[in-house]
Order: sequence, then C-alpha cells, then structure tokens
Amino acid sequence: MEVVIAPAEELAVLAADAIEALLQQRPESVLGLATGSSPLKVYDELARRHEQDGLSFARATGFMLDEYVGLAADHPERYRNVIATEIADRVAWPAERVQGPDGLAADLPAACAAYEDAIAAAGGVDLQILGIGTDGHIAFNEPGSSLASRTRIKTLTKQTREDNARFFDGDVDKVPTHCLTQGLGTIMEARHLVLLATGRHKAEAVHQLVEGPVSALWPATVMQLHPHATVLVDEAAASRLQLADYYRQTYSSKPDWQGL
Ligand code: F6R
Repeated sequence: MEVVIAPAEELAVLAADAIEALLQQRPESVLGLATGSSPLKVYDELARRHEQDGLSFARATGFMLDEYVGLAADHPERYRNVIATEIADRVAWPAERVQGPDGLAADLPAACAAYEDAIAAAGGVDLQILGIGTDGHIAFNEPGSSLASRTRIKTLTKQTREDNARFFDGDVDKVPTHCLTQGLGTIMEARHLVLLATGRHKAEAVHQLVEGPVSALWPATVMQLHPHATVLVDEAAASRLQLADYYRQTYSSKPDWQGL
C-alpha cells in the first residue's frame, strides 16, 4: 500500500494523472466512480483536462460504487444524478457508458446480481476511486461487512446518515436508510484502488485503514490485502499515522517517471 501525504490540490492532480495515463494507454478503460466530497477535486481536474487538453472519456466505461435505495429518479442527491453533474456531463461521457446499481428496482437483489454481471462483462474495473467514511466504510460497506461481500443491500449506520445529512438540507431524516453497494469482495477485484481522504475527521479511519488490524470493524482495512492500493491524504487526514515520516520519505525518494 502506497501512502502519499500532500495538499488536496496535489492529490487531485496525482489521481487525475493516473486516470489520464490509463485512458491514453487504453481508451476503453473501466473506471470505478465514487460520490461524496472526496473525489470532487479529481473530477474538477478531469473536467479541466477534458476541456483544455481534449482528454476523452468517449470509449471508457464507468461503474459507480453505490446508490441510495428509493430516492426519486430526479432527486439531485440520487448518486446517478450526482455523478452526471459532477463528472459525466462535464467530460461528455456517453450516459449509457456510466452505470450504477438501480436503487429504484422492484427486485433489488436481482438488480445487485445484474450489476455484478455488468462489471464482469466489462472485464472488471481498471482503476477504482474511493473515499472513506468516518466509520471506516468504503463504498457503503459499513462496519461488520463481510470482507468477501458482493453487491447487495445495506443499512446505513446512524453515523453515515448524520455525516451525509449535509447533502439533505442538514436533515438526517431525509437521508435514506438503505443503499445498494458494491461489496468489499467486488471492490477488491479492481486492478488499482485509489483512495482519497482529507480533513482531521478522517484521521482515525485513515490510521485504521493503513495501520490497523484487518477487520470487519474497519472495513477499509481490507485494502491492506490489495496488491495495488494507493492512499492519498492531506496532512490533517494523515495526522494519526504512526509511520507518516516513513511514508513521506518513501514517496520523496520515488523516481519521477513512476506514477501511482
Ligand atoms: C460514496 C461512497 C462513500 C464515500 C464516503 C466518504 O460513493 O462510496 O464511501 O466515499 O462516505 O464521503 P465523503 O467523501 O463525502 O467524505
């Protein structure tokens, strides 16, 4: 696991560099998309490169990590709509090439199985962008999630609903109680995991993710078992890392030509 500690703007550039390199190497690459605040600067940087340098997403495929259950199709916080607004529409990504689990399906377990099939049919995810919850979730794999879990329905924790109330007029009662989420086993099959975390409120979760024992109590710790995982954190999110100096030393001595 590589840990990079840098200001948020630099982290966004590093993540965008990795995505751009992938798209240049193979325009048909499959990208895994997260919602929430953490990837927003990356999406801004990709939109800028699309506009200024012609970075194309036309042949790429996108798979979202998760979706709320039951939010109306036109609800602005429905993750499909968030992804359209924050990235897909800005980079002219054809709508049919970006998929998410269907939180409005009549048969939710069937929708989850279909989503797994769609990811597999696309050849799997090349690069998965991730954020981390203050309770250590990735996607919406809340504490207690099986480390081998697949796409399924999950109940959101009180903590996650409180954290996300800011997107729902500050009213926790408006935050859905359930979601569909890629499982930890699903996410672990992506070929490169790139997690972004900023702010002191993420410091404990980041410490557990990088340095804690692998445990369902802190689901993100499963990433320690991934052969190519990159953790991009600002100083505040890195503030509880015991080996922060070592991560800094390792990154500063890395050759320039080597990407994430
Ligand atoms: C969203 C998702 C979540 C968020 C996490 C952090 O698709 O998968 O795991 O990444 O809740 O959210 P922010 O970035 O808003 O702090």
